[in-house]
Amino acid sequence: MTTRRKMLKMLGAAGASAALLPAKAIGMMGGGVGGAPPGGGASSSGVAPFTLPLNAPPVLAPTAADSAADYYDLAVAETDVEIIPGKLTRIIGVNGATPGPTIRARTGRPAVVRFKNGLPATTLGNSPGDLTIHLHGGHTPAVDDGYPVDPTFVRGGTRTYNYPNNQPAATLWYHDHLKEESAPHVWYGLAGFYLISDDLEASLGLPSGAYDIPLVVQDRAFDASGQIVYTENVNGETGDTLLVNGTIQPYFRVAARKYRFRILNGSNMRPYEIALSNGQSFQVLGMEGGLLSAPVTASSIALQPAERADVVIDFTTLVVGTSVVLQNLSGAGSTADIMRFDVDRIEADPSVVPAILRPIEKLDPASAVATRSFTFSRRFGADPWVINGRIFEENRVDAFPRLDTTEIWTLTNRSMMTHPVHIHDVFFQILDVNGAPPPATHAGWKDTVPVPPMGTARVILRFNDYLGRYVFHCHVLEHEDHMMMAQFEVIP
Ligand code: C2O
Ligand code: CU
Repeated sequence: MTTRRKMLKMLGAAGASAALLPAKAIGMMGGGVGGAPPGGGASSSGVAPFTLPLNAPPVLAPTAADSAADYYDLAVAETDVEIIPGKLTRIIGVNGATPGPTIRARTGRPAVVRFKNGLPATTLGNSPGDLTIHLHGGHTPAVDDGYPVDPTFVRGGTRTYNYPNNQPAATLWYHDHLKEESAPHVWYGLAGFYLISDDLEASLGLPSGAYDIPLVVQDRAFDASGQIVYTENVNGETGDTLLVNGTIQPYFRVAARKYRFRILNGSNMRPYEIALSNGQSFQVLGMEGGLLSAPVTASSIALQPAERADVVIDFTTLVVGTSVVLQNLSGAGSTADIMRFDVDRIEADPSVVPAILRPIEKLDPASAVATRSFTFSRRFGADPWVINGRIFEENRVDAFPRLDTTEIWTLTNRSMMTHPVHIHDVFFQILDVNGAPPPATHAGWKDTVPVPPMGTARVILRFNDYLGRYVFHCHVLEHEDHMMMAQFEVIP
């Protein structure tokens, strides 16, 4: 069960040694969540906040299209990019960048996405250079879900994923899911947005086009030469530098009008509590599984890794020339400020946020045919994170839900860290967390539920459309890699 990456680390082999010591030192200074030195200012990157413009990942044009599908090509490779002005940082990029390009899909129109694996034999973070790509939030047949072990997708190879897009408009993202190697692959850059839209969403009149912007928030640490450092902290990697769409604490020039932002916590373990520095509230349109039945006004929203918040921020009342900072209320020092919006012009705003978005069918607990319990805990050993006392094994299936049935899963956390539990295949609804119903923002379709330390969450889910094996796991990526993952198989 020892991977090549772990072997390399144990042997202290080449590739690890040079970067590892400074990396560890910086990682410790970065400390735990919000552990950056207080007082704000620059992070280990040396970049002053709000000095770089926000990057917009390009929307990928299909390579081809026919009556059946749109075809996309993506290439994964290590590449050097300028994250810190004047320095080159090596990343695991998709089409040469992190995040990779955004795919914009439409409900009912399949996408065929081909990934080419151009990684070296030993990658950044010392993985063996194999890959598997998961479309997170995708309701995808098991064969194309990005199973953590995929002998068909090795270094130098290609893998074609068929995504039916048989689901309503939502904010999805793709990222690596290789067993024991997801955390370093994502940390070094392998992730991107995949946005599904549909006619109902388009009919609502929400801010769109240049006013509908995905924002992935991630933390990283940098060494003096500008390289990303990774310490493989088994409790979850954190860095003292916040990036949005791959840019360190950017500024973004906005018009005094409404904007829609799809905010993704794409960090390995860092949670955020997102708020605006002027105390202004915003409207939450939805989370992972798409639109809520009605927008919810909030002055902050907490996002654990992999959670998404689809929000509208209205800059209309801000005077041209003023700024507002998107803050992380759970950060401190260099992790307290995420990015800054600079209002630089007035524009007409034809967009609206209607009072009704999309009706949501509430799953009825009385319709559940099974109740399952999964306990998330820590044990001693190299793979300390376990579900029901066990690590992930390909040959063991822990649950066999039947197609077209509804179940209730009780997720219990017997450790002192939050575990954002992500279940593949279908979206679920949260019944309660520590006995209390979820806030209105979290009452729609979700794919990730934060289970608080020593707490319990109950979710209700309906297994439809697809048979086969799917994983569920903690989305703190180091917990997942150190084996807090299990699988279920949907059976006829
Ligand atoms: Cu975003 Cu199984 O992962
Ligand atoms: Cu966890």
